[in-house]
Parts: sequence; C-alpha cells; structure tokens
Amino acid sequence: MDSKASSSLAGQRGYRSFYADLVADPDAVRVCTGLSCHLAGAACPDRQDEAHPVRAVQCLGYCDRSPARLGPDGQLVLAAGSSPTPIRNIAREAIVTARIGQGDFSSLERAREAGVYRTLSRGLNGTRARVLAEVEASGEQGRGGAGFPTGRKWRIAAEAAAEERHVVANGDEGDPGSFIDRILLEYDPHAILEGMALCAWAIGARQGVVYIRSEYPAAQAKMAAAIAEAQAAGFLGKAICGSGFSFEVRVVAGHGSYVCGEETALLNAIEGRRGEVRVRPPYPAVQGLHGQPTVVNNIETLVNIPWIVERGAAAFRQLGTADSPGTKAFCLNHGFARPGIVEAEFGLSLRELVETHGGGGRDGQPLAGIVLGGPMGSILLPGEWDVDLSYQELAKRGIQSGHGGVVALPAGTDWWKLMIHWLEFMVAESCGKCVPCRLGSAEALTLATQADADEAHRKLPALLDLIATTSLCGFGQSLPAPVERLRVLAQGGQSGTGGTDR
Ligand SMILES: Cc1cc2nc3c(=O)[nH]c(=O)nc-3n(C[C@H](O)[C@H](O)[C@H](O)COP(=O)(O)O)c2cc1C
Ligand code: SF4
Ligand code: FES
Repeated sequence: MDSKASSSLAGQRGYRSFYADLVADPDAVRVCTGLSCHLAGAACPDRQDEAHPVRAVQCLGYCDRSPARLGPDGQLVLAAGSSPTPIRNIAREAIVTARIGQGDFSSLERAREAGVYRTLSRGLNGTRARVLAEVEASGEQGRGGAGFPTGRKWRIAAEAAAEERHVVANGDEGDPGSFIDRILLEYDPHAILEGMALCAWAIGARQGVVYIRSEYPAAQAKMAAAIAEAQAAGFLGKAICGSGFSFEVRVVAGHGSYVCGEETALLNAIEGRRGEVRVRPPYPAVQGLHGQPTVVNNIETLVNIPWIVERGAAAFRQLGTADSPGTKAFCLNHGFARPGIVEAEFGLSLRELVETHGGGGRDGQPLAGIVLGGPMGSILLPGEWDVDLSYQELAKRGIQSGHGGVVALPAGTDWWKLMIHWLEFMVAESCGKCVPCRLGSAEALTLATQADADEAHRKLPALLDLIATTSLCGFGQSLPAPVERLRVLAQGGQSGTGGTDR
C-alpha cells in the first residue's frame, strides 16, 4: 500500500472497506456464484448451515467445471467427475494454445525447450523500432475486451516524454465464463513474461507488474516462481541476455474486485488505493502507474507478442480476417456438451463455435441462448448466432464479445431470475465512483425484486438507459444492455422452451 492510502485512519479504512477480501473472513470457503456456477445450481449457503464459514465470490476461473469452490488453503472443489479443461485448436496455426494444449510449461526448462525466450534474445540484438513496427503492422487488437490496437498503444507510451515507463499485465479476468488467462498464467507464465519483456524493450520500460486476482492463488504462485526462475537465468532483471537492457517484474495480488480489471482501477489497486476507476483522459499509455506512461495489456494479448515478433506481422495477418487478424481463445462453460477452450481464427461463425465445437447443450439439451463476453457482453438467442466472430462484424450488430467467454443458457432459463442475478452482480461489483452506476444499480435491483411486475417493467427501461448513458466507465455503460434484454425477454414470456414466473 502506498503512502496516499495509508497516511490517515480514514485512508486506511477507505482502502480496507473497498475490497471484498479485506472485509471477509480470511478462513471462509469461497463459493462461486458467478453466472456459470449460478446456472449449475450454486448458491452461497447461509454461514450458519456450514461447518466452515463461507462467502460468495463471482468466478473462480473453472467455469468449464462448475460449480466451483475454493478453500482458504487454496484447495479447489469442482463438479463431481470433472476432468481437466480440454484445450482444442481449430485455427490453421495455434498461437495462444500452442503450449498449453500440450501440458504444463510453467518450468523454465520446459518453456525453453518449447522455444520461449528465443524471440526475446534475438529481439534484443535488433532495434526497439523493429519490435514496435512489427507489432503495429500485425494489427493485433487487445484481447481484454476493448479491442484497442496493441501497437498503437505501445507507440503512444514509447513516444510520451518520461524518465520511467511501465508494463502491466492484466490478469484480473473477472468475467464469469472466461478462464483462458488463468490457464495461461498457470501453465505458460514464461510466454507472458517474454511478451512483457518485448513490450518493455519496445517502449523503454524498466518496471513491470503482473496483476493477478485473488481468486487465482495457483496462478499467483506459479507466476512468482516463473519470475524468480527467469531472473536467475538472466531473462529478467539486470542486463537481460547480456544486453544493456534491464527489466524487473513483480506480481501484485488483487483483493477481490471485478472493476479492478478496468485499466485505471487496476493502476489504483497496484498503487495501494481503492480500486476506483479514474477519469480518462489521460489514458494510462500517457499517464499511468505513478503518473508515468504505462502499457496495460491483457494476458492473452501478451502471449501473442513473441509469435508476432518471431514470425512477423505478415504471418500473423494470414490468420483471421483482414480487419481482425490472428486468433482468439474462446472459453466454453460447463453448459456445453464439449466445454473447454477453443482457439479459433477470427471469422469463425458463432453458430459453428456453439453447435459444432461446443457440441450444443450439455447432455443433448437444447439451448435457449448464450452469453458472449461476460456481464458486459451480449445475450444471443439461437436465431442470432449467424454472425462472424470478428471485431468489425460484431460491432456492426452492436454485439460485445468481451474477453471471449461463452456461457450456455439452457432451455427453460427463467429470464427474470437471470436479470436479477445480473443486477445483484452489478450492485456487488460497482466501484461506487459514479452515482448513476452505484445508486442506479441498487434502485434497479429494488424495482426488480420488490416492485410489482407492471411497475418494474414500466420503470426499468428509463432507469437502465440513464445508467448506460451517464456512467463513467464501461461497467455502468455496458451492463444495462443485457439487463434490459433480459427484461424484454421476460416480458415477452420468451424463455427458450420454458416460461417465466413474472
Ligand atoms: C469493468 C471492466 C473490467 C475489465 N476487466 C478486465 C479484465 O479482467 N482483464 C482485462 O484484460 N481487461 C479488462 N478490462 C479492459 C481493460 O480496461 C483494458 O482495456 C485491457 O486490460 C487492455 O488490454 P488489451 O488492450 O490487451 O485488451 C475491463 C474493462 C472494464 C470496463
Ligand atoms: S460506472 Fe460503475 S464501475 Fe464504472 S466508475 Fe462508475 S461506479 Fe465505478
Ligand atoms: S468458476 Fe463459477 S462462474 Fe466461473
């Protein structure tokens, strides 16, 4: 915690009261009530009913094996009979899953055998400008949800006048339904570090942070061990690979907050402040960590980097579509017949992903729809699945794909109850910085749970619209759309093959 947060009693209390983990009993078992586990029937039992204290969390990153629980000792309890996450590549060439599809590459020895750090040592013999130009020419867009061009962000940071610059790997992965970043952190941490080091070299940064959410204790431990090994071997730290370039990386652990995945809230969390969103501009690439230029990139974004620098932008552009080059790792939750991770080239149709590669609903059950991209994403009914998964095609139809999590909604889904689940998530996770999101979400939940149905249907649309149009960040701006969609579905009585109780 930095001095700002700890200098006064009010500062300390304000900090501690913000984060769920700092308020909760540290011995409590974390029961996942995130969307995937919620659909698998998980509910947080009353503390009194359990031998051990329990508390609800929103996702543990095992959505392919819901329901999930995590003990205070880091012990996981997953659905009975569940097996390790299947990882399939259907792209002409695997990038993100190239190693995790084959097993555990967290040890430096295995990572090096697979070629990790080779690109870094070669890159350091060339120029910073070449690495930056290659990433720019690749057209890679950030995989964390916003889709901002990676190379453009790097150039802004590289060209911002400053003594110090930083690279931050965003391992917050809060979307219920997404688990690719957890798997990369646990099984391919050296590839993330190599991507960060290439970024640091390109922009002239000497400090890096891997921010990892508290719900991923194994990822934190494996990344810390990988950093120590890489440092001892000269791939991180002072004079990397015998060059004049130095880059130190550390792990910073989250304390339980979904909004800390938003890049400015993330920076506040790293600085030891409440994880509230900052007003942008200035953007982090210009004024980020400690006011210095900072590239914040998603974990999957960074794993693409060594491949791009090694194979070149032209090779990267051969995969995917002209406007959305490369591949994306889509996560399919336990509600599919074939859950797991599917790495696909951009341009694959959503229907093919859901029906062919996901195999449709679990146990042959028909699906009422899917959720693409987590709580800030989109709800899509079967009639809406004929869309190509590329940034441009999705944007044309107003579809948010977020980080690529796909959650199956089984036939009979009660839309109204699902809408309440969404609003409970919003109330629990709003960072509280702006009034429309903080108070509006609470008001919407009260309407949904306490008002009569007619009044709720009458008042919710305007309230949700107000939240969406006046909130400060993507959380308040995006979350109302799926809530409103669920309200309309509930009103129309369309619930797949089942009905609604409102
Ligand atoms: C509420 C909210 C939560 C977010 N959570 C994450 C997250 O968990 N992981 C992530 O990479 N990006 C998340 N983002 C997006 C980040 O703000 C940022 O765009 C991203 O980390 C940049 O990396 P990229 O360009 O590589 O995608 C979130 C955004 C919002 C508004
Ligand atoms: S929209 Fe919500 S999460 Fe975003 S800044 Fe406002 S209160 Fe925080
Ligand atoms: S593990 Fe429960 S929603 Fe992801």
